[in-house]
Amino acid sequence: MKVLGIETSCDETAAAVVEDGPKILTNIIHSQVKTHAQFGGVVPEIASREHIHKIVEVVEQAVEPLGGMSEIDGVAVTTGPGLVGCLLVGAQVAKGIAMARGIPMVGVNHLEGHISAALLAQEAPSYPHVALVVSGGHTHLYHVQSFGSYELLGGTRDDAAGEAFDKVAKVLGLGYPGGIHVDRLAQDGNPKAISLPRGMNTTKHFDFSFSGLKTAGINYIREHGGALEGQELNDFCASLQEAIADILTKKAVAAAKRCGVEGIVVAGGVAANSRVRALLEERCHNNKMWAFLPPRVLCTDNAAMIAAAGWTRLQNGETTPWSTEVRSRWPLGDLEVPSHD
Ligand code: KG4
Ligand code: ZN
Repeated sequence: MKVLGIETSCDETAAAVVEDGPKILTNIIHSQVKTHAQFGGVVPEIASREHIHKIVEVVEQAVEPLGGMSEIDGVAVTTGPGLVGCLLVGAQVAKGIAMARGIPMVGVNHLEGHISAALLAQEAPSYPHVALVVSGGHTHLYHVQSFGSYELLGGTRDDAAGEAFDKVAKVLGLGYPGGIHVDRLAQDGNPKAISLPRGMNTTKHFDFSFSGLKTAGINYIREHGGALEGQELNDFCASLQEAIADILTKKAVAAAKRCGVEGIVVAGGVAANSRVRALLEERCHNNKMWAFLPPRVLCTDNAAMIAAAGWTRLQNGETTPWSTEVRSRWPLGDLEVPSHD
């Protein structure tokens, strides 16, 4: 079964095809970063319009190497959470393709998509495990019993980790989204140079708070003249990144211990961060757990992860009715477990 995945929940227009495994056949991503960079963040109206402009071209690029749309057996599309105007573009295109071809369509939760990037590995991680979903909009820990079964252990009470990276990077004038720039500059910095607060620094519960860190970071920059340079900039980025990586990985490992599972899957854009990856591997190793880190290109938004989740749901006989709506909010815990009969 070949499944076409479509992702338009935010600022990536993406389409991909996976086949049984699931394994990736094609993975096309049109990033809108350049369009939104001048505004310092995603402008929803402009994002929707760019999705409309690009979606057909991106889908064609994903299916053409396989011999065209006639080769596709099912369509998976992100139907939430995300920007409604953006989600609608992908959902309507997916419905059109599925209807015209007479093939099933399934709506996929974007967060389940992120976690499902792990399914695309040659050796997919075993269940049960803990999943840390950490992106521009989410920072959540789940106890994953099996595919489709997510128990929320905790989440951010204010900003997401990616938001902390991006908002501080914006004040530093590093461009949008800033996480990757902070990561790059941090390579030459001292993570102990600047003391920044670690909110909710406890393993008694698994909630996070990054707004205090964000504010402290912004205040530090302003107190130092508004623009850091050279080694000071590198040290600041390394210290900010260390604070985020420390708290994320400490809580993820504690959650895995509490649940009695053997490993942790990390997912979402911030999972591409080099320090988050290194520290998670180190701490999992020290605690005799495995850490699953998807390749970086599958951490940030893409359609292969949506196709992987959709492939699994379609394989289980699930389809989504034509009348389905898109959802700006859609907690993972609300997902129904697909039936296995
Ligand atoms: O998953 P994603 O592509 O989109 C959402 O669903 O939000 O995540 C985007 C977030 C942004 O905040 C971006 O700055 C962050 O992921 N990000 C990174 C890195 N690459 C992307 N943050 C830190 N280090 C990175 N290397
Ligand atoms: Zn995402």
